[in-house]
Parts: sequence; C-alpha cells; structure tokens
Amino acid sequence: MAALSELYQEIALCQQCGIAKFRTKVVPGEGAEDADLMFIGEAPGWHEAQQGRPFVGPAGKFLDDLLASINLKRQQVYIANVIKCRPPSNRDPLPVEIGNCSKWLTRQIELIRPKIIVTLGRYSMARFFPGKSISKIHGMAQKQDNIVYYAMYHPAAALHQPSLRQAIETDMLKIPALLAEAKNIAETRPEPEPKPQPQQLKMFEV
Ligand code: URA
Repeated sequence: MAALSELYQEIALCQQCGIAKFRTKVVPGEGAEDADLMFIGEAPGWHEAQQGRPFVGPAGKFLDDLLASINLKRQQVYIANVIKCRPPSNRDPLPVEIGNCSKWLTRQIELIRPKIIVTLGRYSMARFFPGKSISKIHGMAQKQDNIVYYAMYHPAAALHQPSLRQAIETDMLKIPALLAEAKNIAETRPEPEPKPQPQQLKMFEV
C-alpha cells in the first residue's frame, strides 16, 4: 500500500484528542502524492467533516477559484490542515490539539516533499513562521531545508473582506514565479552554524 494511504489509516485510528471521539469523519488531506505545491489550512469545518476531505465548503470553493487563477486544479496540488479533526462549533484549534496532530503533518510533508508550502491563515503560519504576524508577512517567503514557505491569508477570512480578498488574490498570482524559481532561491538560514532562531530568519518579498 502506498505510504500516504498507510498514513491516512494511522490518522483515522488516532484518538489522542478529546475531539476525536465526536468527529464525523477525520480529514487527513488529499491531492497529488508528488505535488510541488502543498497548501496547509487550519482545521476541518462542518462540510469537510461530512466528506472527510479538506476545503470542500465555501472557503474551499474560493481556494479552487484561486488555484484556477494560476491554472491549477486541486488534484495537482496537495491540501492538508494543521489539525485533522473538526473542532466543535468551529472554535479555534487548541494548542494541545495542534501539538498532538503535528506529527501527522510532519509525515505528510516528508512523504509529499513539496517545493513550496503555502500556509493559509494564522495557525498554519504559526508553525512555520513563529512569532510573525500574518498582516506583515503574507505574500512573503523563506526557504529552509530546500522547502520554500509562503504565507497567505486564510481563504475563509478573505472571502468576505474586500481588502483581504484582494491581498490573497494578488499573493496567489505570485506562486507560479515562486515555483519556477524555487530551486534558485537561497536558503534564508545562513551557513555555517550557529543556527538562528526562526524569529530571526530574514524574509524576502516576492
Ligand atoms: N478551513 C480550513 O482551514 N480547512 C478546511 O479544510 C476548511 C476550512
């Protein structure tokens, strides 16, 4: 069995958080196993928990439109979330839930080996750009260990706020050039050691 399917089975058995007991369906993620682009959102909502698939509600429809704006279909990218179970009443994920679920996302990244990870919203951004503010770093990228991390607003937030909508649309349009250039982008971590803390990494505009 493909490693990704095995991983999905392991995720489906996970009962580490209280919310696992009440979930309709677990939402591990989906998309191309060899995707260059990986999008990481926050947590499944109601629609996602019904179907067991990420970003299939209104925010997902908007994400599909954004992908279409750069001539991509969702089957060509990989889409996952920071946590795999829907938090009740769509509350924010708790730190303990993010911590428990972190290993699944790590393994997804190891298996997919994307060139670019696009973080959607604050919770996803916080994992890769700790201490940063989304309003300051959206549309900016940094490269670490051969992966380019690129921060964007969450489509659900951007859907109803015209200024954020404009920003997310503009940020999406920068992705093709970033993808074309990904292997030429310099690592933001200066070599040799000592390693700086993530907060000290230099960001660059694209
Ligand atoms: N919002 C998310 O962050 N993820 C989904 O899968 C759906 C909505």
